[in-house]
Amino acid sequence: MWQQQTFFVLWGFITGSLSASWDMAVSPVVFVPRGEDVVLPCSFTHPRQQRYSGMITLKWLARESNALPFLTCSVRNESMEGQHSCAVSEFKYSTYGDLRRGELSLLIRRVQLGDNGTFFCRVELDRVLQYIQKETQLYVTVQPQILNMSVVEPGSDGAPRRLQCEVEGQPMPNVTWLSASGTPMQDLDVKNQQSGPARLLSSVPYLQEVLSCRAESRLGVAERRHPATHRGHVGAQLVVRLVLFTLLTALLVTGTSVLIRRKLEDHRVPPADFLEEL
Ligand SMILES: *[C@@H]1O[C@H](CO)[C@@H](O)[C@H](O)[C@H]1NC(C)=O
Ligand SMILES: *[C@@H]1O[C@H](CO)[C@@H](O)[C@H](O)[C@H]1NC(C)=O
Ligand SMILES: *[C@@H]1O[C@H](CO)[C@@H](O)[C@H](O)[C@H]1NC(C)=O
Ligand SMILES: *[C@@H]1O[C@H](CO)[C@@H](O)[C@H](O)[C@H]1NC(C)=O
Repeated sequence: MWQQQTFFVLWGFITGSLSASWDMAVSPVVFVPRGEDVVLPCSFTHPRQQRYSGMITLKWLARESNALPFLTCSVRNESMEGQHSCAVSEFKYSTYGDLRRGELSLLIRRVQLGDNGTFFCRVELDRVLQYIQKETQLYVTVQPQILNMSVVEPGSDGAPRRLQCEVEGQPMPNVTWLSASGTPMQDLDVKNQQSGPARLLSSVPYLQEVLSCRAESRLGVAERRHPATHRGHVGAQLVVRLVLFTLLTALLVTGTSVLIRRKLEDHRVPPADFLEEL
């Protein structure tokens, strides 16, 4: 009976002190633009730190808190000298720091949309029961862009032809349809449907007019016009007009200066001759 009580008191003391002094610091949310490298910060401290010479095992998990780790790395805390083998950085995932100093951060190279989601940083000391784990939300951002714009011909059901526009972005952009003059179209029968991760397919009934599709999020705006050649045509016309205008101006300026010079010479020459003759 006495033994049992002591056991419980001791057990309470041990677990209490453990949970009180293990500590792990992570960033709850990390934002990164697609294609860039990112570090998910993670570090820890534990009560036996000053004299701990056992194994330190780092695990990084994704999606589920009990998933199989996609990165595992162990080091024996015998010496603080030299590098340890976990920090091989040519792989997509690598550690970023020294486990022996409690540094557990993860470096992810060239982040893709598929990396978006929850990550768990976990460290285990000698016995598996002694561990701590915390989570980070990785939010991969994508600038709005228009992937594709095309006319969908009517099917056998006789539905009208539609103009469709596929946009991409994270957060998901707003899609607005604009008339040739650039004003938002009202009362259009717009159909929106998600066409993939961070992708949206938007379509409107299409006659022969010029329409623009605009995708907008807090990260920016993208816009495309259909038919695309229309814009090129307008561009070409502008260039031709600019060239003509410049040529005409140049002609006018040289013409005028020649005329002025002639006039000046006409005025100057006779008096000079006249003086010489005197
Ligand atoms: C590893 O050992 C050193 C002392 O040699 C200590 O300062 C350090 O905190 C230990 N690391 C961990 C994670 O326990
Ligand atoms: C991306 O990850 C964040 C954080 O886990 C989540 O809130 C969001 O829904 C995810 N977005 C997509 C498109 O999966
Ligand atoms: C654009 O859309 C058309 C029709 O939906 C499709 O056939 C084509 O493959 C798309 N192009 C790209 C680059 O996605
Ligand atoms: C999305 O569209 C709505 C209505 O058109 C507008 O109020 C909102 O500000 C837009 N959001 C962004 C991020 O552009």
